[in-house]
Amino acid sequence: MKTIIGNWKMNGSRAKLAEMIADLSQIETQNRVVLCVPFTMLDIDSGTINLGAQDVSAHKSGAYTGEVSAEMIAEVGAKYVIVGHSERRMYHDETNDIVRAKAQMALENGITPIICVGETMDEKRAGKTMDVIEACVRESVPNDVHDDIIIAYEPRWAIGAGITPTTQEIADAHRVIADTLSYMGLDGTPILYGASVNVSNASDIVAIKNVGGLLIGGASLKSADLIPIIESVK
Ligand code: PGA
Repeated sequence: MKTIIGNWKMNGSRAKLAEMIADLSQIETQNRVVLCVPFTMLDIDSGTINLGAQDVSAHKSGAYTGEVSAEMIAEVGAKYVIVGHSERRMYHDETNDIVRAKAQMALENGITPIICVGETMDEKRAGKTMDVIEACVRESVPNDVHDDIIIAYEPRWAIGAGITPTTQEIADAHRVIADTLSYMGLDGTPILYGASVNVSNASDIVAIKNVGGLLIGGASLKSADLIPIIESVK
């Protein structure tokens, strides 16, 4: 079983999500499928498809205008939440410390955090990919984790760019993440690959060692793109 997560970003509508859920309920799959959608869609009845949020507050409650707490997203049925997505790190200056606090809040409310890690193009060019990824994992994962977490390796330069790293680059990044998690006592944590996944590269990517599934942006918005990916992943 692999984990396949769609990240709708700020796209779609309640009607589109209902259609997607109806389409996905027609297929048979052993894979765990999660759709991470805008907050306003989280209460939709999703059957066997798990819904998740795309962000959560690092705070429990209080004077944080515009923020949504982990308790609130749990109340409307979210089982997962993406934390530390590259777009949050880039547009909202989220650091590993903030990401760790958000992941902690999720865990305290029974929500599985999907913790994103990955290097920028500048870091890649400077030969720092492995150091950045290792530090991201060490600093973004809460201490003392006893519940499920998911890590998503997303090379930030490849997101939405239509380019993917080489098989060797993905294998190397996932090995470093697996080793770091093992050192932290978190063996067996699923490590997903994300960035420019599509139906032509999905099955090759999940065949790479230590790749436990996929985090998919653009290609998760239409069932005509997403269903063949889910079906191609064994
Ligand atoms: P993409 O996005 O699949 O469109 O590259 C991935 C992501 O941002 O999670």
